[in-house]
Amino acid sequence: MQGFDRRKFLKTIGISAVTAGLATTVGSLKSVSADEVDWFQNVNRVKDPLNKTPKEKGHAPVVQWPINIKNGEPFNLDIQIGETLHPMTSNHYIQWIEVYVGIEQVSRVEFSPLCPQAKVTIPVAVKESATLRILARCNQHGIWETTKKVII
Ligand SMILES: [Fe+2]
Repeated sequence: MQGFDRRKFLKTIGISAVTAGLATTVGSLKSVSADEVDWFQNVNRVKDPLNKTPKEKGHAPVVQWPINIKNGEPFNLDIQIGETLHPMTSNHYIQWIEVYVGIEQVSRVEFSPLCPQAKVTIPVAVKESATLRILARCNQHGIWETTKKVII
């Protein structure tokens, strides 16, 4: 009887695991026809603000804040997902919203489908004019981003 070669066994298992992982990854990649969009391929943004698609109207974060912002003083960002508020149902919902000032993350809010509306108010403060980035993830249509400049 041949002896057990531990090194050979681990090598084989490792290769199998890598192969299985690759197969899983390849298996999860679905082919997308020319008229379909793979929403999970990139961060999605409104392409033409004057001519939004239904998907853009339903997913791009909409953000509002007070007119007068003072240096370093907190103000509220009122955020909702979509001009037409995104649904929150068990199979189609917003999973989270993130807020960044510049590259710094200020907040991340997680949602379950039990949350009735994809809306949140986040307090922020800026010490100089800055770019706000709001990201939201739909479980069916990927990550959507809106950026806005706050001028002080
Ligand atoms: Fe969606």
